[in-house]
Amino acid sequence: MKIDDIRKICVTGAGQMGSQIAMQAALHGFTVSLHDISAEQLEKAMAGNRHQLGRRVEKGKLSQDEVDAALARLRATTDLAEAAQGADFALEAIVEILDEKLKVFRELDRLTPEHAILATNSSYLGNSQVAPATGRPEKVVNMHFFFPPLVMKLVEVVKGEKTSEETALLTAELARRIGKVPVVLHKELPGFLVNRILRAISNEAYFLLENGVASFTDVDLACELGLNHPMGPFKLGDFSGLDIGYNARMEVYNKTGKEEDRPAASLERRVKRGDLGRKTGRGFYDYSSTPPTPTEE
Ligand SMILES: NC(=O)c1ccc[n+]([C@@H]2O[C@H](COP(=O)([O-])OP(=O)(O)OC[C@H]3O[C@@H](n4cnc5c(N)ncnc54)[C@H](O)[C@@H]3O)[C@@H](O)[C@H]2O)c1
Repeated sequence: MKIDDIRKICVTGAGQMGSQIAMQAALHGFTVSLHDISAEQLEKAMAGNRHQLGRRVEKGKLSQDEVDAALARLRATTDLAEAAQGADFALEAIVEILDEKLKVFRELDRLTPEHAILATNSSYLGNSQVAPATGRPEKVVNMHFFFPPLVMKLVEVVKGEKTSEETALLTAELARRIGKVPVVLHKELPGFLVNRILRAISNEAYFLLENGVASFTDVDLACELGLNHPMGPFKLGDFSGLDIGYNARMEVYNKTGKEEDRPAASLERRVKRGDLGRKTGRGFYDYSSTPPTPTEE
């Protein structure tokens, strides 16, 4: 397959990620079908997309005609067979549950044409974990977008043990064609690239905080002013959702049982009281006023 042969894209899972990935592809001229098991979620996804694009029209970044054309190229459906039919590329962006993903890959393998590439947007699962559900492991790949996908430029493309070079290169080229910048990982390993680097930074940030070396506000300041990071690690944790970092650490801790892998007490306290960051209005910082203020402990 050549990149110009990719015309129809199927995205399954219309949550935070899938809805915007589908919209991004439609904005770049692809015919896109967006699938979800929930009709209500599909409606919410499309309303969210219309709202995002409406703001771009207001700001003069897109014309109403461009928006209308992109929306006309995007079809939402609860019927996976319809979504997958004739798709040259299918991207799975459903809940992060391996068994559910395996079911979806089995179905995508059955429902898409033989030449189609099947990709997962999973943040944690390597494609070699889902590839056995298909009869085409050489065409299975990770295509990992960042939140929010209508805005964030980076896409990680990860080759698994059996992913062909052609599949990885086509996926990277597709990322470029929809206005993103790909990086290709030649090996599959937990956390891929960005999250490994993020983990290293945030582990060190928690170490400094928990050992009384510096306050979290000073750690954030140091990363912002000394490293030119747009947001320090605690602000970023609040932005992404503290539960996400906590759950990922708990998963590692449950596997290794090592004390150094246990989530930091300052993180656990907040997650247990439901202070999950921006989405709940409070995490390391309190977002009820502008600018946000640091919380007590
Ligand atoms: N949220 C992030 O910041 C982020 C970033 C990168 C990657 N990811 C990954 O993207 C995937 C989706 O994450 P999200 O944040 O969009 O989740 P989400 O919970 O917002 O959305 C998941 C959607 O999948 C749907 N779904 C569940 N089972 C399904 C099935 N069998 N078939 C079709 N749809 C089904 C749900 O109805 C829901 O709408 C996950 O694998 C996650 O690890 C998330």
